[in-house]
Amino acid sequence: MIITGVSSGIGRAISAEALRLGWYVEGIGRNAPALLTEHPRGSFTTCDLSDRTALSGLRLAEDQSYELTVLVNNAGTLGPVKPGKNASWEEIDHCITLNTSSAMLLSAKFLAEISGEKQLYFTGSGAAEFAIEGWSAYCASKAAVHMYASVLAKEHPELRIHAFRPGKVNTPMQAEIRATTEEDFPGVAHFVEEFESGSLVLPETVATSLLHAIDRKDEIPVIFSTSNYTV
Ligand SMILES: NC(=O)c1ccc[n+]([C@@H]2O[C@H](COP(=O)([O-])OP(=O)(O)OC[C@H]3O[C@@H](n4cnc5c(N)ncnc54)[C@H](OP(=O)(O)O)[C@@H]3O)[C@@H](O)[C@H]2O)c1
Repeated sequence: MIITGVSSGIGRAISAEALRLGWYVEGIGRNAPALLTEHPRGSFTTCDLSDRTALSGLRLAEDQSYELTVLVNNAGTLGPVKPGKNASWEEIDHCITLNTSSAMLLSAKFLAEISGEKQLYFTGSGAAEFAIEGWSAYCASKAAVHMYASVLAKEHPELRIHAFRPGKVNTPMQAEIRATTEEDFPGVAHFVEEFESGSLVLPETVATSLLHAIDRKDEIPVIFSTSNYTV
């Protein structure tokens, strides 16, 4: 299984669960977690996924444990949190490149270079469907990811290709959200309340739900939420 963004949060939890279930896990990102580098079935490739040249040179390894190989496009950034009119070219470009373009390019490589049965997943977001003031680049980047997954799923009806919405998950990205100002993000108080009331989803819950979904043979919707998806 190939997973991007494995050093923390959701990607780290998916890696841990996949290793626990016996998968070979190849992580891709900027920082190598000991979880993968010190595990006999783990490996890691250093790549800044916002760097087009680095990404183009990546070679994808086929999974050695199962007959099918899985790619989880998970790496992401919250991007600029501020009114859309104040976001710079660099901020917008970085967010769209990392969240959207790199996932598309990696998926294209995966489909072209990996033979046999495969599954393709994207960590999407509810922000793809709900306009959140202050998150213009992030919402746009994830909406594009959801649509990209839907198009690929149509182009490859024989493969399982899904973007999933994990809900609000207790990761460093949520801490970053809580640290924003009300001026830049009018909804910040709600995110603080949800954190303080303990209602955030655990990354481990997302990981368990996704691994169950990967193993399931029956159909699941193209877009599903692992926070309310019963497995
Ligand atoms: N937390 C939530 O509530 C929530 C909700 C919906 C969707 N999501 C999505 O879930 C995914 C994971 O986020 P998270 O919440 O787990 O946040 P996180 O803990 O901040 O994880 C982000 C991951 O992305 C990697 N990353 C960041 N910049 C990168 C770059 N330039 N190149 C390669 N990798 C990079 C980071 O690794 P390195 O820094 O080591 O490179 C890190 O492992 C994201 O796509 C996010 O949009 C999160």
